[in-house]
Amino acid sequence: MTAVAEVTLRRIYDSRGQPTIEATVASEAGVLGRAGAPSGASTGTHEVRAFPEGGVAEVLRRFGAREREKLVGVPLGAQADWDLLLRTLDGRPDLSRLGGNTATALSLAYARAGATESDRPLWEVWRRPGVASKQFPNLVGNCLNGGKHAINGPEFQEFLAIASAERPEDSLRAALDVHRRVGAALRARSPTAALGRGDEGGWVAAVESREGLEILSRACRETREELHLPVHPGLDLAASEFYSDGRYHYRGTTRSPEEQRRFLVDLVDEFGLTYVEDPFDQEDFESFSRFTAEVGGRCRVVGDDLYTTRRERLERGIAARATNAILIKVNQVGTLTDTFATIDRARAAGWATVTSHRSGEVPEEWLPHLAVASGAAGLKCGLMGGERIAKLNELLRLAGPTES
Ligand code: PGA
Ligand code: ZN
Repeated sequence: MTAVAEVTLRRIYDSRGQPTIEATVASEAGVLGRAGAPSGASTGTHEVRAFPEGGVAEVLRRFGAREREKLVGVPLGAQADWDLLLRTLDGRPDLSRLGGNTATALSLAYARAGATESDRPLWEVWRRPGVASKQFPNLVGNCLNGGKHAINGPEFQEFLAIASAERPEDSLRAALDVHRRVGAALRARSPTAALGRGDEGGWVAAVESREGLEILSRACRETREELHLPVHPGLDLAASEFYSDGRYHYRGTTRSPEEQRRFLVDLVDEFGLTYVEDPFDQEDFESFSRFTAEVGGRCRVVGDDLYTTRRERLERGIAARATNAILIKVNQVGTLTDTFATIDRARAAGWATVTSHRSGEVPEEWLPHLAVASGAAGLKCGLMGGERIAKLNELLRLAGPTES
């Protein structure tokens, strides 16, 4: 493989119409690698900073000849060296000088250039130790949006269909069927009310969380019965968004961590939840541990804001048995190398990883490659919208030809 000949950054827009960074890495052989970075809305405190103060304009001002010069000449295929260089160029642990999204875009664009020049698919280049061949993730598909991803929706952030068929296309069929049924149920419930979709392509309606969960679990049951495919309800509570002064504040109700835990254990049992993400505040390892001890045998307990894909945070979680799974988002840590370190540690501990989109996405296809490369238990992705379906269709391509 040849070396990097040119690096450029540009402003592009994400699925919420917010500016983000796209990087292009050109090799001496004239091969281009291009990637844009997604953005979150319910970001964790321990994530790297997506942009410096001043946003994309400030990134473009700061990323000058000195930065470019350092990156030009690096041979392709040396991801760890490249990513270390990106960290050194930024100079701050939270990447707040050039932005975590700049590092993410550059890290991915470089990987793409290398993969293209060596004529290998990304999933193969990224394959983690111990992932024997293509292993396909379950689908974690967003059917109803709430919290920060919807206006006037339920308080829980995400109502998810967890589809666990052997073949990705069956999982996708099941998740889409649940999404459709949830829409039909919402329409039947309020025939004259407007029905919209939120940031991640799930429905948005003025329902309370409990009713949303009833609708979701009924839809999953009907899909199981009619399509004979395994699909069960799950939740992302993004609970840090409702936590202050030691309590969880919901419309009309306030719960202590202990009450929140009992409330959620009951929901797991009543609705047969097989997936619960961020049920507690991002600093409350203790409640996570207690909850996992109670329901971990029958439910995936997933840390997102709790870990922010950071290895040190995961280490703490493993020691405390805080969860049994971790959500993986590249731009929470800023580089592929940091992401791989966290994935490898989770796998060594026997934990499941769930590779995830962000609520503000770009229409790119690398996410399912990362899921397959890491033997992920789940691919978390919205089911509607070009920027989501691009990822799901790529998962189908990775799975091979359509049989019928
Ligand atoms: P975000 O939300 O991309 O807005 O952070 C996704 C999630 O919480 O899983
Ligand atoms: Zn989350």
